[in-house]
Amino acid sequence: MTYRIQHPSLGVCYYPEHWPESQWADDAAQMAAIGITHVRIGEFAWSLYEPEPGQLDFGWLLRAMDVLHAAGLKVIVGTPTATPPKWLVNQMPDMLAVDENGDARNFGSRRHYCFSHTGYRAESARIVQAMAEAVKDHPALCAWQTDNEYGCHDTIISYSDSARRDFRIWLAGKYGHNKISALNEAWGNVFWSMEYRSYDEVDLPLQPVTEINPSHMLDFRRFSSDQVRVFNAIQCHFLREATPDVPIVHNFMGWFTEFDHFDVSADLDIASWDSYPLGFLERVGPTEERRNTYAHAGDPDFQAFHHDLYRACGKVRAPEARGRWWVMEQQPGPVYWARWNPSPAPGLVRLWTHEAIAHGAELVSYFRWRQAPFAQEQYHAGLNLPDGTPDDGSREATQVAQELKALDLTCDDVRQAPVALVFDYPSVWTGQIQPQGETYDMFLAVLRWYRAARRLGLDVDIVPSGAPLDGYRLVLVPALLTLSDDAAAALAQSDAVQLFAPRTASKTPDFRIPDTLPPGALQSIVPIRVERVESLRPGLSIPLERTGAMQADFIKWREFTTPMEGAAAEAIRLTQDGHPALWQAAKRHYLCGVLEEEPLTALVAEMADMAGLDMMNLPDGVRTRTHGKTRYFFNYGDQPRDLTHFVTGDVLLGSAVTMGHDMLVVREA
Ligand code: GAL
Repeated sequence: MTYRIQHPSLGVCYYPEHWPESQWADDAAQMAAIGITHVRIGEFAWSLYEPEPGQLDFGWLLRAMDVLHAAGLKVIVGTPTATPPKWLVNQMPDMLAVDENGDARNFGSRRHYCFSHTGYRAESARIVQAMAEAVKDHPALCAWQTDNEYGCHDTIISYSDSARRDFRIWLAGKYGHNKISALNEAWGNVFWSMEYRSYDEVDLPLQPVTEINPSHMLDFRRFSSDQVRVFNAIQCHFLREATPDVPIVHNFMGWFTEFDHFDVSADLDIASWDSYPLGFLERVGPTEERRNTYAHAGDPDFQAFHHDLYRACGKVRAPEARGRWWVMEQQPGPVYWARWNPSPAPGLVRLWTHEAIAHGAELVSYFRWRQAPFAQEQYHAGLNLPDGTPDDGSREATQVAQELKALDLTCDDVRQAPVALVFDYPSVWTGQIQPQGETYDMFLAVLRWYRAARRLGLDVDIVPSGAPLDGYRLVLVPALLTLSDDAAAALAQSDAVQLFAPRTASKTPDFRIPDTLPPGALQSIVPIRVERVESLRPGLSIPLERTGAMQADFIKWREFTTPMEGAAAEAIRLTQDGHPALWQAAKRHYLCGVLEEEPLTALVAEMADMAGLDMMNLPDGVRTRTHGKTRYFFNYGDQPRDLTHFVTGDVLLGSAVTMGHDMLVVREA
C-alpha cells in the first residue's frame, strides 16, 4: 500500500550531517514534542555517502533514520544529485553546465551539472540505486524526494557539447531522421537563408547577431524541459524498482516556468513546492507599492496560486484523484537570498502553513530545523537558532500543530473548485520568446487573472491545457498562446462560461501565425479574426467606452479584431476609438486587450455572475479558501477586518473581527 497521509501534518527539513551525532536524539525528541511528524533528510550529502569514488557509506544515514524512527517520525529521503562531489567533477569536468558565454558553471555551490551529460546521468542512476538499496527496508522511510529544486539558480538551460549533441538527436526524433526538410519547413528557415542540410548543422540558439528564429528557440526550450523530465524519470525508475510502494516527490519552486512541471509530474506520485513568501514578493512584486505593503506578510495570492498549481501537478499521474501535494520547504523566518530579506510579521508562519493546508496540502514542512552557523545560508532562519534555542517559527509551528488537532481535517475532503484557470508552460515560453512589448510578463498576466478570482472569494483549480474541464462553471484562460487539439476539444466540450485573454491561440505549436489568423484553433468556438496587435508603453493606454463593469483602459496590449464571415459573435464592449474590446459567442468571451487589476476583477465578476457563482466582496488583503466544509479566511493585511457577515457556520479558530495577519476558520453546517 502506498504511503498516505490522512490528516494534514507538519514536517521539517533536517541535516543530521551538520550536527554531532550525540545531538540527534534530542533534536528528534524536540521535533516530536512540538508536533512534527515528518522529516526530510539527506538531499545534499553525496560527499558523505561516497567520500571516495565507489566507497559507499550509508551507515550514518541509517543511524539518523533509526533515531528519527525511535521518536515516531516518518522520513522523506532526498536523492543527492543536486550536489555532485568534487571528485566526480574532477573525473568528468564536462559534466558541468555551460552558460551563454561558453563558460563552465563551476563547483563550489550546488546544481553544477548539465542535464544532458550521459556520464552524469549514469552516475545519478548509480547513487540513487545504491541509496535505494541501502534504505529501502527502513521502517521510517515514507517517501523519496528526487534531487532538489530542478532549475534553481537558472540551471535548466545549458549550452554544453552534451546539450548540443542531445538537441540534434531530439530534433531528429521530432521531425524524422532523414527529414531535415520537415524541420526547415516547420521553422520557416527559408526566411533569411537559415536552411540546414542535416541535423548536424543545427546549433544551440546562442549568440546570434539579432533574434534567433523563434521556432528554433521554442524547440530548444521544449528540449531543455524534456531533459529534466528524462533525468527525473531515470531516478523514479530505480526508486520504484526498489520500493514500489514508496511515493516519489520532487520539490518544485515558485515563479518558475523554465520546464514543464506537468510533464515532470507524470513520473511523480506527489508534487511539492518550496514556499518562501517574502523572498518571492521581493523578487516578483509585481509593484513597489505591493512589495512595501506586504513586505512582512507576502503577496496574498502568490502562495495560493502555487498551491493550486502544484495540486494540479499532483493529479497528473492520477487524474481521478484529488491531487496529492505538499509544501516541502516553508519559510520559517527571514531568508537570505532576496535583495532584501525582511522578517515575517508575528503570525505569518502560522498563516502560511494553514493556507497551504486549506488548499489541500497533506504536509507542510519547514525549512529548516536549526539555522546553520556556517557556509552559505547563515542568515537563513530555522525553527531554532544556531544555538538550539527555539525561534518564533518553532512557536508558531507548535501552535499550528495544536490547531490542526482541533480542526481535525481529512485530506480527502478537498473538493473540485467551481473555477478552472487553464495553464500551459509552452505558452509561457512562446510569450517570452516573442513578447512584442517589454512589459508583457506572461507569469504576471496569469497571476493577475488568478488574483481577480481570489478577490471575489472564488476557489480556483489550475488545470493543464488539454485536461478535461468537466464540472467547472467558469473557465479562465489568461495565457494560452498555443492551443493543442486536446485543449481546443476540452474547451469546445465544456459548457462553462469562458473568458479568453488576448493572444489566446495566437501561434501554432510550431510558432507560426495560424493559417486562418489568430485565434486559430479557437475560431470554431470564438469566430473572430485578430488582424493586428499593438503593444503599449507604460503610460499609454486605450480607453474603453464607459459602460458596464469594465470602466477602464487597455494597457500594455490591444488587438484589432473582426468577426468571421457569418459568425455568431457579438462585440459587447468597444474601445472609445470604435474597435471591439470584448467579444461574446454564446458563453464564451474574448478580451481584446490587457486590463488593470480592478477592471479585470470586475469583468471576472461579471463572468462569475453569468455562471451563477456566489461571490464575496472581501475586504482588502483578505482571502478565503474552502477545504471540504471548512472555510478559511486569511488576513494578509496588518489591520483588523470585520468578517462577521461571511460567517455562515461555527467559528473553529479566530474571531469574526479578524486581527491583522490573523485568520478565521469556520465550519459550514
Ligand atoms: C531552497 C532550497 C534549500 C534552501 C532554501 C533556502 O531553494 O531548496 O536547500 O537553500 O532554498 O531558502
